[in-house]
Amino acid sequence: MNFELKALNLSGAAAAKCDLLVLLVPESFKPEQDPLSALVQSASKHGDWSQAADKSLQLYQAAGVQARRVLLLGIGAASVRDIRNAMQSAAACLKADGVKHALVYLAAVEDAAQAVRTSVQCIADTSYVYTLTKSKVTKPALNKVTLGVQNKAAVNAEFEQAVAVALGQSLAKEWGNRPANHATPTMLAQAAKDLAKHAAIQCKVHGPKDVEKLGMGAFMAVAKGSKEPLQLIELSYSGAAKSEPPVVLVGKGITFDTGGISLKPAAAMDEMKFDMCGAASVLGVFRALAELKPAINVVGLIPACENMPDGGAVKPGDVVTSMSGQTIEILNTDAEGRLVLCDALTYAERFKPAAVVDIATLTGACVIALGGVRSGMYANRDDLAQALQLAGDKSDDLCWRMPLDDDYAEGLKSHFADMGNVAGRAGGSITAAKFLQRFVGNMPWAHLDIAGTAWKEGAAKGATGRPVPLLVQYLVDAVQSAPAKAKKPAAVTKAKTASAPKRKASAKPVVQG
Ligand code: BES
Ligand code: MN
Ligand code: ZN
Repeated sequence: MNFELKALNLSGAAAAKCDLLVLLVPESFKPEQDPLSALVQSASKHGDWSQAADKSLQLYQAAGVQARRVLLLGIGAASVRDIRNAMQSAAACLKADGVKHALVYLAAVEDAAQAVRTSVQCIADTSYVYTLTKSKVTKPALNKVTLGVQNKAAVNAEFEQAVAVALGQSLAKEWGNRPANHATPTMLAQAAKDLAKHAAIQCKVHGPKDVEKLGMGAFMAVAKGSKEPLQLIELSYSGAAKSEPPVVLVGKGITFDTGGISLKPAAAMDEMKFDMCGAASVLGVFRALAELKPAINVVGLIPACENMPDGGAVKPGDVVTSMSGQTIEILNTDAEGRLVLCDALTYAERFKPAAVVDIATLTGACVIALGGVRSGMYANRDDLAQALQLAGDKSDDLCWRMPLDDDYAEGLKSHFADMGNVAGRAGGSITAAKFLQRFVGNMPWAHLDIAGTAWKEGAAKGATGRPVPLLVQYLVDAVQSAPAKAKKPAAVTKAKTASAPKRKASAKPVVQG
């Protein structure tokens, strides 16, 4: 999809050449002297439509309007939800046969930046089509979307970020959706290598022999039952000085999770092809970084393998030694995500990261706890938790902080190893996080359990590309908060002199401390 941002007033929107004009009209909209305002007034007067949320009206060859088709969409108070709902109801019109170029005009929306972001995200979402393994596909004609706003300069940065996020999110969706025989660990590694064609991105792939040398006994145990060789994918994006500590993203890359010897039931097992959505989100973030080029260093780590039952597979009760030296009794081979992640987290320490964030479709328990609205978020630092929460709020890719009390780790005790890989059924998402925490030492660390948010079931079955928007927002915000951090001693001095109004006004509300 080609997105374009254009400064237009209402008369300009009416005169614009396109196949479809989508007019988003909030309750606060005041009509002016132009053909679109006349339409809005006339439709409201006759009771055929209103500016309330969820009201829509389609028109053909409207007087004074260049576009053949016009879609009036009421968006009420213009909240993110209002705009999202409106754009979803526009999906069918956007995908109609004759529509190649659409103009989405945001009429006097107060928070235009947010409206732009939501619109780009929704349009990218509805125009994504999975094609790889279909012999016949009909793609919508739509290939260009112009977003019309009154003040382009005010929303340009937001627009560019939204377009970059859309690219990354659709890459994440694509890899999430690919069947496991079309998304093997080796293929994921190739996708990462392809990303390294972009400037500032590099990729190294460690195969089975390298991983054995590294001593990743937990990761290797998961891969033992599979014919597909495991891959440890290492991406790096260098946008800042080498001395700048990176943010490390670790994505769970189980390309298929049968459960292993602790086999899963057959029902919906196909969905376990989505068990690499954490990995896919890391690829998506790097795609967005390639576009946005923020001044930050980022490392992406993806432990990728299949979890299969086999004569050579790891067995319940087997004890393995992780890269950290800690031993693990694998009581349930279906709790494999934490086994591949724990070694990747140990590997992350060598980068002396500013923060490590792992992203994983880790537990069914998280789906029960939070459903598909918010990802579960854990953090061993309050400022990191706040930054992630805020990034989720800003990007409409929500998360919710979960607890890490040490008492939750009780159930991980083992008779035969330093720990077991599972605790009881209670608090399953939390006990999984407690397991991971044993491998992060003193690093600032957060864990996103995306089991509920990474894909949708039922009629809309497919990967969502979450949490690419949240992660990109977090990284962009981290750039802005970095100088504030570096200047910390100066800030203290300033506080002493008690006259720093300028600094206060410019302080970014991103990370406290
Ligand atoms: N990939 C699954 C988690 C999952 C399950 C995600 C259902 C989405 C929907 C993970 O590897 C797993 O199997 N977890 C087990 C852990 C249990 C054995 C402690 C689970 O959640 O049942
Ligand atoms: Mn599993
Ligand atoms: Zn899994």
